[in-house]
Amino acid sequence: MKIAVIAGDGIGKEVTAEAVKVLHAVEQRFGGSYDLEHLPWSAEHFLATGETLPSNGYDLLRQFDAVFIGALGDPRVPDNRHARDILLGTRFELDLYVNYRPVKLLDERLCPLKERGPKDVNFVVFRENTEGVYVGIGGRFKANTVDEVAIQEEINTYKGVHRIVKHAFEWARARGLTKVCMADKSNAMTQGHALWQRVFKELAPQYPGVTATHYYIDALAMYMVLDPGQFEVIVTNNLFGDIITDLAATFQGGLGMAASGNIHPGRTSMFEPVHGSAPRFAGRNIANPIGAISSMALLLETLGAKDEAAAIDAAVLRAVQENRVTSDVGGSLGTREAGDFIAAGVTRL
Ligand SMILES: NC(=O)c1ccc[n+]([C@@H]2O[C@H](COP(=O)([O-])OP(=O)(O)OC[C@H]3O[C@@H](n4cnc5c(N)ncnc54)[C@H](O)[C@@H]3O)[C@@H](O)[C@H]2O)c1
Repeated sequence: MKIAVIAGDGIGKEVTAEAVKVLHAVEQRFGGSYDLEHLPWSAEHFLATGETLPSNGYDLLRQFDAVFIGALGDPRVPDNRHARDILLGTRFELDLYVNYRPVKLLDERLCPLKERGPKDVNFVVFRENTEGVYVGIGGRFKANTVDEVAIQEEINTYKGVHRIVKHAFEWARARGLTKVCMADKSNAMTQGHALWQRVFKELAPQYPGVTATHYYIDALAMYMVLDPGQFEVIVTNNLFGDIITDLAATFQGGLGMAASGNIHPGRTSMFEPVHGSAPRFAGRNIANPIGAISSMALLLETLGAKDEAAAIDAAVLRAVQENRVTSDVGGSLGTREAGDFIAAGVTRL
């Protein structure tokens, strides 16, 4: 497998090193060959060269089986231009329309919700990843004056909404799950989200074994906190998915625990922890590497290496249960030591 690795900025570099360490442990245990190419694209690279990514950057990425990204964001690049090109650009250019975020609590101790355990927090969120308000269409008129008008358009297309909602139903059916919940704000956003309603109602009858429910996004946020156990699969738009998956990450023990995939089924896809570059944590060996390591497991699972992914998941679970983790989730290990423990678990378990 050919994998492009973009460690990026801040703690992205540290957690990526641990994810790669665990991949080497997988190689040692299961054989197989992972051909990694480390790409320097980052704030550092941008500041040194003026280039966010090369002009053939997206074509280059298409040549890999998968892309792994640490995190991007650096205070020295205040407009985040490099992150926009590398991260959002890759999502759009490679048409990675499925943002896949599993929400799985590994140990009751990590959950801030009262009396909730692993059986209550186990669902996935599918976030539409190529449309919505993130396409950057809009403008500012009379910018930086008291008369400023700022417009940011939200894009919803039939094709875009249809393929993500269909993916959610297909994913549920393939795994014997019986509940798909769509969240929108069609009561207030009566144009764009009417399209979500139409598509959801059109597709739901095609999946008779699956119960299709709908919440407005504000109600869904409330129910996620009150009763997360009612959810199996949630599907929503780009902005709402971004917000609720940070909320959901707290159920798992915080941003350091959450993994994600940006997927176009059958094509080069990109995997990354949900968290950002956390500049305050950078270079201190304190960042939790589990979000990144679990993202590597998602990468392997998506490429069909199911046993390898399961071995990583088992090693992560054991690290959490034995509290051999970083301080954000109650342990006392550094980033590297937490990664060592999980890598050793992969080779031994
Ligand atoms: N996908 C990405 O690359 C991505 C995502 C979000 C933010 N960002 C960028 O990252 C920079 C910082 O953004 P932010 O502070 O809003 O979000 P962040 O996710 O970097 O950090 C927010 C807080 O979450 C906690 N946290 C995050 N990751 C952790 C980890 N691995 N271990 C332990 N604790 C962790 C820390 O308390 C941190 O202060 C910004 O430049 C932002 O644009 C990038």
